[in-house]
Amino acid sequence: MVVVAIIAPTSTIGSPLVQAIQSTQHKVVTVSRSPQPELSAKGIPTHVATYLPGGHATLVAFLKAQKVHTIISGIWSLTGHVESHLAVLAAAKEAGVRRFAPSEWSVPVYQTIGLYAMKLEVWQECLKSGLEVTRFQCGIWINTLGYGATKEPEEALAGYHGPTVGIFMDKGAATLVKDGNDELVFSRLQDIVPLVVKSLDLPKWEHDSFIVGDRTTFKNILNVAQQVTGRSFEVKYLSEHDIDQGLQSSDIIEKLSSQFYKALANRELSFGQGQTLNKTFPNVGMITVEQFIKRHFGR
Ligand SMILES: NC(=O)c1ccc[n+]([C@@H]2O[C@H](COP(=O)([O-])OP(=O)(O)OC[C@H]3O[C@@H](n4cnc5c(N)ncnc54)[C@H](OP(=O)(O)O)[C@@H]3O)[C@@H](O)[C@H]2O)c1
Repeated sequence: MVVVAIIAPTSTIGSPLVQAIQSTQHKVVTVSRSPQPELSAKGIPTHVATYLPGGHATLVAFLKAQKVHTIISGIWSLTGHVESHLAVLAAAKEAGVRRFAPSEWSVPVYQTIGLYAMKLEVWQECLKSGLEVTRFQCGIWINTLGYGATKEPEEALAGYHGPTVGIFMDKGAATLVKDGNDELVFSRLQDIVPLVVKSLDLPKWEHDSFIVGDRTTFKNILNVAQQVTGRSFEVKYLSEHDIDQGLQSSDIIEKLSSQFYKALANRELSFGQGQTLNKTFPNVGMITVEQFIKRHFGR
């Protein structure tokens, strides 16, 4: 049994992790910027952190008092991502925490996806920390395709509230990069979470913990989406020039989407060809994008 602290316990990834760890032999505690009465009511110890120097001592004291062994972060912030992670890392070192996983949960692309450069900054500090560290990389969450689901819509989104790239099931529209045939990795939140929980029992954490639920192309997904819904999608083909224009956008969603399209055009989104957590734990079922669309959009 280890004690696991989930940072940002109401984030899309943090929330199901808290729930899943609760039903194992491990103990879960949480750290958030605000009180979490619902979690406290369930008996889960929660700490309110400022992530500022003034909050360092109380964070260390909490981690020590709870005997925290592993920290997993679900932080996402365009303004405080690095500072808050570094505050947690500093407290973790002082409190004798053994393992740390920063908030990655996507693709290991930090240059083309410039908005992820802050994740690399955190990772470099993780490597210097002396803690056992890993990056959970799972590709695009299949749940991002869940808007407009006609069956079990809550399960389809699983709390996801962010943007969609490529295939817009609710709008019956698709944006393809070039011919749409470049591969990329997808995983569903409901499949990522049990793999992360299983990894708590691994004797050693590798630096990269890849999760590959499916490796497919937007063209394949478009074909499946049209077949399953019986709808003819409006398709937009992006040229390099279109992508470069999107990269200049002041709209953060358009900018992030364009960075993903650029990374796809550069063939940077099809990682995890070697060892993956799903190969390590083959009993954890992973669903494909096709299965997801059939399950949530079938007629
Ligand atoms: N692969 C994909 O398709 C995909 C999609 C979306 C997100 N992601 C990744 O998943 C991770 C989590 O994203 P999410 O969508 O789950 O996040 P989210 O639901 O937006 O939650 C982010 C959490 O970060 C915490 N937070 C916000 N600002 C902060 C700050 N300045 N300092 C410390 N904590 C702060 C908040 O927790 P408290 O209020 O409790 O402090 C908040 O609940 C990110 O790394 C993101 O890139 C991946």
